[in-house]
Amino acid sequence: MSKMKTLLVGAGISLAASFSFNAAAADGAALYTAKNCQTCHGADGKAPIMGAYPKLNGQNKDYLVAQMKDIKSGARSNGMTMAMKAMVATVTDEEFDAIADYLSKVK
Ligand code: HEC
Repeated sequence: MSKMKTLLVGAGISLAASFSFNAAAADGAALYTAKNCQTCHGADGKAPIMGAYPKLNGQNKDYLVAQMKDIKSGARSNGMTMAMKAMVATVTDEEFDAIADYLSKVK
């Protein structure tokens, strides 16, 4: 049954006016806030709190997933990565997918 919900993607339902929009995007938006991503990247990934922190909105989904996985695994590592690594330590691949799906669709 839950797989059927993905068929609603792109149905044109206003996100602001409905709580029943596309399951992946809904989960992604909720996860983004629940995991406190906005504390560094800002609401909807649009307004990072420091110039050295990346904006996330509108980026390609595949790229976002790859970067989050690389930061989690340690493949991507630099002076700034440590702040981010702790935040994604408990985020699963499915959750990365949902969050990236959501962020990629934020204009
Ligand atoms: C404590 C601050 C902080 C928090 C909280 C945080 N991040 Fe980050 N994030 C960063 C920093 C700093 C970088 C850049 C790391 C680097 O330079 O390698 C980054 C990088 C990223 C990138 C790669 C962007 C790119 O353009 O390559 C993604 C995607 C991302 N974060 C998503 C998230 C998500 C999703 C969450 C919540 C689970 C989150 N971040 C929580 C600080 C944070």
